[in-house]
Amino acid sequence: MKVLVLLGSPHKRGSSRMLADHFIKGVKENGHTVDVIDIAHSTVHPCLGCDYCGMDGDCVQKDDMYHIKEMIMNHDLLVFVTPLYYFGMSAQLKLMIDRFYSFNGALMNAHKKSVLLSVAYEQSNEAMSDLYHHYLTICRYLHFKNLGSVLGLGCGTVSMTQNSIYPQKAYELGLSIK
Ligand SMILES: Cc1cc2nc3c(=O)[nH]c(=O)nc-3n(C[C@H](O)[C@H](O)[C@H](O)COP(=O)(O)O)c2cc1C
Repeated sequence: MKVLVLLGSPHKRGSSRMLADHFIKGVKENGHTVDVIDIAHSTVHPCLGCDYCGMDGDCVQKDDMYHIKEMIMNHDLLVFVTPLYYFGMSAQLKLMIDRFYSFNGALMNAHKKSVLLSVAYEQSNEAMSDLYHHYLTICRYLHFKNLGSVLGLGCGTVSMTQNSIYPQKAYELGLSIK
């Protein structure tokens, strides 16, 4: 399977990246191929809602989303990686998801698989609940098959995350991908 990791944190060596790296290690051990895109440092402008694409065509904006779209359509499993920002995904990741609009139908028909990896400062189970339900709703709408998630609570800094159970959980989730 071809796996595409979509990094949504502005921290290049932060906690989200740590979970992503552990997931990648596990999934590679299973023989899958992995590509990574640093979405947070890509140039992805917000969807203009102009409908130039008609939800199935070229986007009027010429930025990195052209390449990201090609990569997404060429991979089987999409791994969404984000820190928790105000109980949701990072704006960087959301910008990319909004741009799915121009290939919405193609994405629905492609029946991709997906995974969510996230980290938050808070310890409370409720902290991730809106992000998680948003993710599940996106999966349902776009016909993605959710293969699992790691929602790292109490992962406010790199050292907190390092000392938590979540890197291991991300590795195990990677290993579990068939
Ligand atoms: C703008 C912003 C919003 C945040 N919102 C939340 C939040 O709602 N709940 C929470 O527990 N942590 C929140 N955090 C903390 C981050 O989720 C946490 O520090 C995380 O480890 C950052 O991951 P990173 O190192 O991959 O960037 C926020 C941090 C920032 C910068």
